[in-house]
Amino acid sequence: MSEISLTENAQHQRHGSNSGQPLTRREGVRKVTGTATYAADNHPSGMLYAVCATSTIARGRVVGLDEAAARGHPGVVDVMTTANRPPLATDPDEKSHPFMFRMDLLQNDRVRYAGQPIAVVIAETLEAASEGAALLAPRYEVEDARVGLDGAESFSPQSVGAGSPPLAETGDVEAGLRGAHRRVEVTYETAPQYHNAMEPHCVVAAWDGDRLSLDMPTQALAMSQQRLGGLFGIAPENVAIRSPYLGGGFGSKGFPAGPQVLGILAARLTGRPVKLVLRREQMFGPVGHRAATRQTLRIGVAEDGGLTAIANHTRTSSSTFDDFFEPAADVAHTLYASPAIRTSYEVVRLDTGTPLFMRAPGEASGSITLESAIDEAAYGAGMDPLAFRLKNHADVEPISGKPFSSKRLKDCYAQGAERFGWSTRPLEPRQMRDADGLLVGWGVGTATFPALMFQANARAVIRRDGTARIETGAHDMGQGAWTALAQIGADALGLPIDDVEFAAGTSDLPDAGIAGGSAHTATAGMALHTAGLNVLAKLADIATADERSPLFGAGNVGTVARDGRLVRRDDESRGEPFVDILERAGLAEIEATGQAAGDAAAQEAYAMHAHGAVFAEVKIDPDLGQIRVSRLVGAFAAGRIINPRMVESQLFGGMIWGISFALHEHAVVDRRSGRVMNADLAEYHIPVNADVPSMEAILVHEDDPHVNALGIKGVGEIGVTGTGGAIANAVWHATGRRIRRFPMSLADLI
Ligand code: MOS
Repeated sequence: MSEISLTENAQHQRHGSNSGQPLTRREGVRKVTGTATYAADNHPSGMLYAVCATSTIARGRVVGLDEAAARGHPGVVDVMTTANRPPLATDPDEKSHPFMFRMDLLQNDRVRYAGQPIAVVIAETLEAASEGAALLAPRYEVEDARVGLDGAESFSPQSVGAGSPPLAETGDVEAGLRGAHRRVEVTYETAPQYHNAMEPHCVVAAWDGDRLSLDMPTQALAMSQQRLGGLFGIAPENVAIRSPYLGGGFGSKGFPAGPQVLGILAARLTGRPVKLVLRREQMFGPVGHRAATRQTLRIGVAEDGGLTAIANHTRTSSSTFDDFFEPAADVAHTLYASPAIRTSYEVVRLDTGTPLFMRAPGEASGSITLESAIDEAAYGAGMDPLAFRLKNHADVEPISGKPFSSKRLKDCYAQGAERFGWSTRPLEPRQMRDADGLLVGWGVGTATFPALMFQANARAVIRRDGTARIETGAHDMGQGAWTALAQIGADALGLPIDDVEFAAGTSDLPDAGIAGGSAHTATAGMALHTAGLNVLAKLADIATADERSPLFGAGNVGTVARDGRLVRRDDESRGEPFVDILERAGLAEIEATGQAAGDAAAQEAYAMHAHGAVFAEVKIDPDLGQIRVSRLVGAFAAGRIINPRMVESQLFGGMIWGISFALHEHAVVDRRSGRVMNADLAEYHIPVNADVPSMEAILVHEDDPHVNALGIKGVGEIGVTGTGGAIANAVWHATGRRIRRFPMSLADLI
């Protein structure tokens, strides 16, 4: 079990309220000293190394493998192929739940995408396994690969990835467009992106009879236990997973990926512990991606600048064998007031791995286009783009008509604009130059992401020595769960954070749900909060019924916890330490569990979203077309902020991904072979420090009484939205050129 006590942290907080404090990461010292154990750092004795051999074709069949050559290589212990792969209890192509993704586990000789695992070589050393995999020299029956969005076969989806209807309409879009004073009808394209967490997918697997023990990074411990238990025909609780730290996930580690299951199968086959780590180029296939989109936006604007219609028709892709796709159009449901809105999809089946949730799935690719098209509409209307957004501010959620649970977007616009200096921006493009003669442009984009709540459980224990232990199987991808959740738990117990031990990151703890949908702090935090209040209620029951307690008879007034004491709600000077209550009752400790889930009635009544406004400055070389982001200011309203240091860091991470979306990230697929041609971090560009300008993230105060009792919304994904559009709009403002294909490159400007 992973546990962290805050005494490791140099920063001691003795405040009554831990939340709101910019604590540094509890596990920070472990990470920077290399003592934090990531999954692949584990080496059980007798461990073997497994390496996947992956397909170099995108469609066809494997007709031959030189297994003898691989087996003959010194150190190779076994080669796992379709012929000897241990049996599974469920067909990996079976799908009984939309989020039960199909995977390639050597079930047959079909090749469905380039980079698909087609065999696994297991050896005493990593070098021997790698060489063995290279010696397999597969022979194929090759069929033509279908790549690109113009591929013939498409389908009309039954449901959008996240569950909303594939065709959504409110009002009459065609009438709105017909009646408009001006129309913007434009098609934007976004490029495929592949999740490239610093830590690639990996597993260290060991079997003991029908019990499976795993070191495996995951964003969802309990769901992974379920999925693996189902595949191997064992009880989920027989799958023990340790995942104390993840080197990033971004959605791709929500579910066990095919190669990780192959590592577990290799351990089954050899009867020894096995480690399997994907090589960087193997990240471009079997572990998900964000598919390309082609989005046709139609926007109608009345003479006064008010919107009359918004439509987004998105063409995107899924694999030939599963259904997930990028719900890019949906962000139009919530962002701007319009009497008519329509979103629709058509999905092309391509010979790729199945797309998957990737940080702000849908919102990222849908907001960079919507924010660009809205900017086009604003310019057409002769209005400042910020004034245009304010004119079309949605006071209620447009698609549903529901009031927002809270929405401080106007404050985000105001505070961001003030900080950025927006008021001096010329309306016309190509008006500003810097001292070096570079073209300067300013753009704005609106950020938005739903405030979600999933289900989670937690336990809280108060001990006789006055300290507490709180537990939930939470996941820290680097976002700061170890710290923020401990702050929430300590506050619930009325204890200084140094007196609270926090256990997370293993599957033997209460189920913390999934670290996804930007909902982990809210969900796991609410479970810890509830567990804390429940254990205090037990303590109060004992004290208020005991005539030796100063709290005797206070049952009706109620009690609250303050600094390790339980005190009367109506008179906080009257009370006693937790320790005294336990001691008199002869208890070594007292514990309670707590659950969290979304409040269905509140969710029915209110639309729940975080919002923000991002302002970007770019500088562009007028001769070379080179684009640099020189300044980013984001202002975000995301409910209660538990740890402003972590939140700023999350928002920066998101905003940097926005830079990446606008200017860098692009998986280039070879049209003949169907292979990603830049499957490495040298040529699959993401921003490096030199690409990241001075950034600011303003945290706009927002009280939300409806999202959950703590008022927490999420911050993990919203930073990606808004930023890309702001940069694209700044590029237009600098040059007068509207680029409708992302990422934008200098080739688009010269
Ligand atoms: Mo996220 S794409 O919900 O991990």
